[in-house]
Amino acid sequence: MVTYIDGRYVEDADATVSVRTRALNYGLGCFGGIRGYASDEAGQVLVFRLEDHVRRLARSASMLFLKLPVAEREACDAILEVIRRSQMHQDVYVRPMVISASTELSPVLREQDSSLIIYSLPLQRYIDKESINVCVSSWRRTSDNSIPARAKPTGIYLNSALARREAFDNGFEEAILLTERGYVSEGSAEHVFMVRDGVLFSPPSTEDNLDGITRRTLIELATKDLGFEFVERPIARTELYVADELFLCGTGAEVTPVNSVDRRTVGEGGVGPITARLKAHFSDVVRGRVEHRRQWVTPVWG
Ligand SMILES: Cc1ncc(COP(=O)(O)O)c(C=O)c1O
Repeated sequence: MVTYIDGRYVEDADATVSVRTRALNYGLGCFGGIRGYASDEAGQVLVFRLEDHVRRLARSASMLFLKLPVAEREACDAILEVIRRSQMHQDVYVRPMVISASTELSPVLREQDSSLIIYSLPLQRYIDKESINVCVSSWRRTSDNSIPARAKPTGIYLNSALARREAFDNGFEEAILLTERGYVSEGSAEHVFMVRDGVLFSPPSTEDNLDGITRRTLIELATKDLGFEFVERPIARTELYVADELFLCGTGAEVTPVNSVDRRTVGEGGVGPITARLKAHFSDVVRGRVEHRRQWVTPVWG
């Protein structure tokens, strides 16, 4: 496997940073998560919304006084090159990061310390179940005015990890976090969608959650391709208990139906009909089977 680090392509084992980096000591950095999907064409891999992911990474970096050290086009090319050099012909996950590589003491953010790292790994399902049982976490989502969730900062994932640990310890597969105000924010690494009376709902990114690319994709697919009604608005915790359908989504999680919340079965349980349609359509889109959505996929090979 090959990793890109500041313009060089090296074997994973040689892609090292100092134990003194501010990225390690203080969590100073931000990252992205991108998927490539094996397509119906033998050996081909299609990267989903590559430019959008790189643009978000660049914006995240600038929000944190870091900087994508190369042009966005160059970062896109490096991502494709990492996949190629790692000989990936299967479903793949790519992790680009912009970190503070400074080894000085004290947490200080400076554009000139920015380092770009890109690695990949084979990844099929991130959540390996048809539908999952989730809880509402006792941990609140870090407020956007404390650490901007919008920037996908590395350090904020301590919040996600605490919520996941609590969920696992209590026998759940995932956690939904509320904002300090008590409204639904997001899962540990996923956005939340709810269906009530045939209408889809999801909280806006002003509810301390990431500006999600899968979420935006699903809104467009639901409204434009499948003709569903969608409303963006805050969601109360107790609405989760009376939803007809619920699902989580994200680059890793794709579309993951929720079977129960806090041990209350959602609708009929399992996978609801609207969720099933969206999930199937999303899967066709990412594998390049939907002609009018092919602008969202970038071929890696050939
Ligand atoms: C906290 C958080 N929320 C939501 C998501 C889903 O966002 P996206 O669809 O852009 O991957 C992720 C994953 O990247 C995440 O880490």
